Amino acid sequence: MIIILLGAPGSGKGTQAAMIAKKFSIPAISTGEVLRSEVAKGSDLGTLIKATMGSGALIGDDMMIRIIKSRIDSADCSNGFVLDGFPRTVSQARYLDELMFNSGRTISAVFNFNIKEDDLINRICGRFFCKKCGALYNSFFRRTKVDGICDNCGSDSFQKREDDGSEEAVKNRLKNYRETTSELIGFYQKKNLLVSVDALQSPPLIFQGIVNYLTN
Ligand code: AP5
Repeated sequence: MIIILLGAPGSGKGTQAAMIAKKFSIPAISTGEVLRSEVAKGSDLGTLIKATMGSGALIGDDMMIRIIKSRIDSADCSNGFVLDGFPRTVSQARYLDELMFNSGRTISAVFNFNIKEDDLINRICGRFFCKKCGALYNSFFRRTKVDGICDNCGSDSFQKREDDGSEEAVKNRLKNYRETTSELIGFYQKKNLLVSVDALQSPPLIFQGIVNYLTN
C-alpha cells in the first residue's frame, strides 16, 4: 500500500499519516520531519537547510530526491508507506513514478486535503508537540486532556516548530503550496489517483473516510 497525502501546510496530513501508518502497520514518511531532525542534530545537511526551512521556502528537488530514495529503499518500506510532504513539485512526482516503476510498485491513492487558507492559520499557529514523544496537539483544536501534560507519555515539556513561529514564514509556505505543490492535483487527477478529502471535518471522521476508501 503506497499512499500519498497532498495538501496545504496545516491541512492535517501529518495527523492522518500517523493514524494510517498505525492502522496498516506501514511507516509514515514525513519529509518535513526528516529535514527537521537533520536541523536538530546539527548535521552538515541540517546546517545547509536550516535557513531555507525557517523561511518557509522549499528545499531543492535534487536533495529531496536523494533523501526520499534512501528512505523508501529501507526494509521497513517493503510492504508500503505513507508519504506526507513528498512529492511537492511535479519533478519530484515524476521521479517518484520512476522509482515506483523501477521497483515494480504502484501508488494506491493520493488523498488531497481540501481546506480554505483562512482555516489553516489557527491550525498552524496553534500547533505544538510533546518534546519527548512528538505527540501533536493544538491550542485551539486539540489540547492535552490535563493542562500541560502529554496524553501519550506524561511529559510536561512541549515545543513549537520554528517555521510555525513567524507570520512571514507561514505565508511563504502557503504561497509555495499555491504556486507549486497545487499543480500536483492536476498531475494525479490525470492518473486517476486523486481522492478528495474534506479536511475541515474532525480527524476521526477524515480517518474513517480514508480507511473506507482503502479497504473497499
Ligand atoms: P512539512 O513538515 O511537510 O510542513 P507542511 O507541508 O507545511 O505541512 P504541516 O506539517 O505544516 O501541516 P500538516 O498538513 O501535516 O498538518 P498537521 O497534521 O500538522 O514541511 C516543512 C518544510 O520542509 C517545508 O516548508 C520545506 O521547507 C521542507 N520540505 C518538506 N518536504 C519537502 C519537499 N518534498 N520538497 C521541498 N521541501 C520540503 O496539522 C496542523 C495542526 O492542525 C495540528 O496542530 C493538528 O493537531 C491540527 N489538526 C489536524 N487535523 C485537524 C482537523 N481535522 N481539525 C482540527 N485540527 C486539526
